Amino acid sequence: MTTHPRKTPETLRSKRWFGASDLRSFGHRSRALQMGFAHEEFMGKPVIGIINTWSEINPCHTHLRDRADAVKRAVWAAGGFPVEIPVMSVSEQYQKPTTMLYRNFLAMETEESIRSHPLDGAVLLGGCDKSTPALIMGACSAGLPFIYVPAGPMLRGNWAGKVLGSGADVWKYWAEKEAGNITDDQWKDMESGIARSHGTCMVMGTAATMMSHAEVLGLTLPGASAIPAADAAHPRMAAAAGKRIVEMVWEDLTPDRILTRKSFENALTVHMAVAGSTNAIIHLIAMAGRAGVSLTPDDFDAFSRKVPVIANLRPSGEFLMEDFFYAGGLPALLKQLESKLHTDAMTVTGKPISETIALATVYDDNVIRPLDNAVTTANGLAVLKGNIAPDGCVIKPSAAEPRLLKHSGPALVFEDYDAMMKAVNDEALDVTPDHIMVLKNCGPVGGPGMPEWGMMPIPKKLLKQGVRDMLRISDARMSGTSYGACVLHVAPEAYIRGPLAAVQTGDVISVDVEARSISVALTDAEIAARLAAWTPPDRDYPRGWGKMSAAHIRQADKGCDFDYLEGTAKIPEPEIH
Ligand code: FES
Repeated sequence: MTTHPRKTPETLRSKRWFGASDLRSFGHRSRALQMGFAHEEFMGKPVIGIINTWSEINPCHTHLRDRADAVKRAVWAAGGFPVEIPVMSVSEQYQKPTTMLYRNFLAMETEESIRSHPLDGAVLLGGCDKSTPALIMGACSAGLPFIYVPAGPMLRGNWAGKVLGSGADVWKYWAEKEAGNITDDQWKDMESGIARSHGTCMVMGTAATMMSHAEVLGLTLPGASAIPAADAAHPRMAAAAGKRIVEMVWEDLTPDRILTRKSFENALTVHMAVAGSTNAIIHLIAMAGRAGVSLTPDDFDAFSRKVPVIANLRPSGEFLMEDFFYAGGLPALLKQLESKLHTDAMTVTGKPISETIALATVYDDNVIRPLDNAVTTANGLAVLKGNIAPDGCVIKPSAAEPRLLKHSGPALVFEDYDAMMKAVNDEALDVTPDHIMVLKNCGPVGGPGMPEWGMMPIPKKLLKQGVRDMLRISDARMSGTSYGACVLHVAPEAYIRGPLAAVQTGDVISVDVEARSISVALTDAEIAARLAAWTPPDRDYPRGWGKMSAAHIRQADKGCDFDYLEGTAKIPEPEIH
């Protein structure tokens, strides 16, 4: 076996900035001295960029300033030189129209921040939904050794003696409020109990799914992804990452030595086992693309057929991320999945994932179940295709009412979100439980940014009849904390004249999840004729980021990366003049 050459102080990338004896290096050194550092504190040492998505407008990342300090402390102790670099926070709760519009912004910012500065390695601090894929996409493209410090989930929610889960219980109790079963005072009381600490949403939503993916891909320290943000183990994990990144720089442990087809297949296995967020399909395809690995929605479908849901976590199961941590966290899940994993896949520890598994213990096998005791017989994910969605669309069968997984009914079509919201509140709406709600023009271009509008609210009229799920189809995404029979990510999207645009109210749509099919009872000629006569709605992005995104974003089945950011083409090191 060949040994990878180690870095030395002479071959550090940062030496080009600090170690030369020319005019520019004089400037670089003098400006480090200006910041109060002595020569011996930065010369000949690995410079570690702490890429921090902390922001006062992101409650999921409130603690990341402190975590950056923990990382710094350890980098200093390990003989490195830490520098904190702030980047966009992509705050899921507050940033509109959708943080998805800014995932590629953060990916670009991360890549360029790493490449343009005198860094030898990076520690990435994030966790709220899009921040994980964005940071990893950018750092992959930059190509330096990096390690991911996931923000970790917040504590369990608590209200009136009940355990509350982020998002999922908001949707659930909102439906009860709309049905008249919860008072305004009770609803207000719930506000103070649902988010009890800093950290990310604490169900297996998008944030927890993506942090789990980061860990199984080998990009975090073992066990990092499920540590509750408020647990003292969390800053200890951040410090351990600071120590490890310095070693990784000397070992030259770059992401291309970690991220392979095998590691992404491990992520697909974990995705199905946790019934992960549908959003992760888009993100994982984009992350794989940056690592030179080709993933498609069909890969997800293939893995969904062979990996059962064994993590008993909401929204598909019973428990929350805090319970998952106490049950052993991701290493324990990997232990249960061992027979289905590529255990030789490399991690940031410099050792294969088999070593993580060897040290893991399952403390509660109701939360993290063995393969022969699945949480549900339904798949964690299914990719459907047909004349509405030639390039595919997705549904999470484990989070839907089983009766809707094979269903035909008349379409109830909305051309945009506002029209849909107005209609669902109209108690005179002509709708039955058999109707299939269709929402158009919410895709990557039409949204813009593919907002999480796919879990359309059940019409008020049906809520009062006790209906809590119905079939819904859109080119939007839905929150990873959402549930229901929602068919999402229809590709190509309506706005660019995908066939979804041709569907009209009253058309009969058929969905058969077992057969992986979705179709509208129209001929190809009828669809073509309707599309020819169809005009997309106006989208008012005359300039700026929205305009740039619309011009370059790929469709959902391709990961929504920008066409000019995809791939692994090598960008030269910056000239230092
Ligand atoms: Fe940040 Fe859910 S809002 S993870």
